[in-house]
Amino acid sequence: MATVPSKRKLVGCANFVRSNPLSDAFECEKFDHIEFWCGDATNAAARFGVGLGMGLRCKSDATTGNGTYASYAMKSNDLTFVFTAPYGVESGGSRGEAPHPGHEGRAMMRFFEKHGLAARAVGVRVKDARAAYEEAVKRGARGVLAPTVLTHTVDDGCAKGGQVIAEIELYGDVVLRFVNATDGFDGDFLCNYSATRDAPDVSYGLQRLDHAVGNVHDLIETVDYITKVTGFHEFAEFTAEDIGTIDSGLNSMVLANNNEYVLLPVNEPTFGTKRKSQIQTYLEQNNGPGLQHLALKTDDIFATVREMRKYSHLRGGFDFQAPASDDYYKQLKAKIGDALNDEQYALVEELGLLVDKDDQGVLIQVFTKPVGDRPTLFLEIIQRIGCMRRKADSESFEQAAGCGGFGKGNFSELFKSIEAYEATLQI
Ligand SMILES: [Fe+2]
Repeated sequence: MATVPSKRKLVGCANFVRSNPLSDAFECEKFDHIEFWCGDATNAAARFGVGLGMGLRCKSDATTGNGTYASYAMKSNDLTFVFTAPYGVESGGSRGEAPHPGHEGRAMMRFFEKHGLAARAVGVRVKDARAAYEEAVKRGARGVLAPTVLTHTVDDGCAKGGQVIAEIELYGDVVLRFVNATDGFDGDFLCNYSATRDAPDVSYGLQRLDHAVGNVHDLIETVDYITKVTGFHEFAEFTAEDIGTIDSGLNSMVLANNNEYVLLPVNEPTFGTKRKSQIQTYLEQNNGPGLQHLALKTDDIFATVREMRKYSHLRGGFDFQAPASDDYYKQLKAKIGDALNDEQYALVEELGLLVDKDDQGVLIQVFTKPVGDRPTLFLEIIQRIGCMRRKADSESFEQAAGCGGFGKGNFSELFKSIEAYEATLQI
């Protein structure tokens, strides 16, 4: 059957008119967690714990009767990262039923072999995971895990109740995982993870996931798929021309749910530039589409980055991309204005941060180098300033999502840093 050509077109940042049609196919509240599949969960969790200031909150491993894999859920405020790796699949060490659906030892091993350390699941909190899955599949989603009821039976005196989880394909081997709690479940990840309540509460100020970005071969095809199955709407877009990159390029669209707290930018490479697009490099090194970067929101980026930088040289933390040029910092105040004071401008330069604004607010951001061996996954630390609005039915205020944009004005600085980093790779 011939494919119907998409009606969707990139119009570029200047021509894009933002609107929110409230078109979600199911009730979607916020990001719940990101689960990484890796080669060694103990070490990956420890490294992210030290590097980002996240404490171990619950676990499922051999000490809790899980003979198939080790899995550790790390948390800082409302940000949850989970690291999971199979036990010895070939040696028969991985035995028995996986205690959680969608977690099969051999599949994890294949995933790690193909992608290295990479995100497997973007978890979103929904009102009804079964309804979300059924509606998405009805609209053409490729189902990965049919709705499954979980009941918390671990007697750790902590969580109780149950959950329903379900998964559909997002892009490549990454799934969009729907989660809803039932009967008052209040654990930190999935049912039957054991709480590690004696662990001290650690945080460098990271509050929650701001956006989760994917790299794909074909932007329009992917965006058509995600918007069709979730009902999410387009929140912003950028073309290679908007970004004005130096040597390599990308096109990007940002998708959002109704309340715009689930922000899913998607990138594709562009061709014909002097250097290969960094998105193309990602697609080759990741062996296909996948999650490129995770933006972690803080309310005090100076404190968060200062703390993170303490651990960079110990190799327990993360390396940041090289700071922008002196010219960038000289021109910054003229570009951003009095949204920041002199002391903040000085800290921005001292810590090598980037600043941008849109018509609604200001953002301060910084990017890490790739977190693992491959030039694929990296992190962004972001603070958004402005766009406060009154909460519905409440006297309190909240910040509108995506305030200050996504750093369009910094893309060329970021690209310069990435290109400089890639130039150091002798491959
Ligand atoms: Fe970002």
